[in-house]
Amino acid sequence: TGRIAIPLSIYRPPSMNFAASQSALDPAGVGADSIADLFWVMLFGGSLIWLIVVGLAVYAIVFPGQHDQKKTRMLVIGGGAVFPTLVLTALLAYGLAMLPELQRPAPDGSQVIEVTGVRWWWRVVYQTTDGNKVETANEIHLPVNEPIEFKLKSDDVIHAFWIPSLGGKIDMIPGRENRLKLVPNRIGVYRGVCAEYCGEAHTQMAFDVMVESREDYDEWLRQQKTPAVEMSGLAKRGQRVFESSGCGACHAIRGTSSDGVVGPDLTHFGSRRSIGASVMPNNPDNLTRWVTETHRIKPGVEMPTFEVLNDAELQSLVRYLGELK
Ligand code: CUA
Repeated sequence: TGRIAIPLSIYRPPSMNFAASQSALDPAGVGADSIADLFWVMLFGGSLIWLIVVGLAVYAIVFPGQHDQKKTRMLVIGGGAVFPTLVLTALLAYGLAMLPELQRPAPDGSQVIEVTGVRWWWRVVYQTTDGNKVETANEIHLPVNEPIEFKLKSDDVIHAFWIPSLGGKIDMIPGRENRLKLVPNRIGVYRGVCAEYCGEAHTQMAFDVMVESREDYDEWLRQQKTPAVEMSGLAKRGQRVFESSGCGACHAIRGTSSDGVVGPDLTHFGSRRSIGASVMPNNPDNLTRWVTETHRIKPGVEMPTFEVLNDAELQSLVRYLGELK
């Protein structure tokens, strides 16, 4: 019917541009500030070496055969060895001096967040002050200007946890727990990514980071602790579709009979910004596509495509998930 077939390899969901800030050079955290400073100082030092070395090379080409031996030797030793050694040593000292502060653990009493890398999404568990745990997925909320301690793990292969706007990255290694302290200092929405190649959907393993005021953060955490509310009408029919289609075998929705642990916890799915580990914005149209074209949108994803659902079932299912706020 005149439609152009788009090859799978260049197919992208239509709205990938919702991505939030993801630049290490636009820092919004204490660690990221240091890293951005380090980048600019390194760039300056590196440029200085480059200019001198290239300058000497150009000088040698433009004025061939006019140098006395002594002067030449001085230029080679001075410009080629002494000068780079001095600059590089100074840069190294500057960089190493930053390490102790970046590696210092968060003070006792800081919020601890456990994040586990799973092909190809993120399990996020908040340890709350009353000793309970709250699980969510692919979205991390942080209070501004407070140190956060991340405990980072992997269930399968090596991933790497990186929120470029907030600080450094660190590997998530199976069988071990790495720690990372971050102190966000600017309210906003940032993008976190997996920074270690981990298989087919590596580039689609991202997450949203919301840096909020203490009040907004407390309100979010309070709401995440509650189980899913009782549904009615269309959403209730959607809950039945969810349960009878087997979704609950992989996904948990606290307060219902769905208690799967293999896939992301969906208890408050409707409150999340994106679908599929920050692959596209969370809205009813995208959710419908996610359920029916899962593998076209995210090749390699473990979730099966549910093409068998009819329109009425789909509509109620999407309503149900959207109302899980
Ligand atoms: Cu996980 Cu790359």
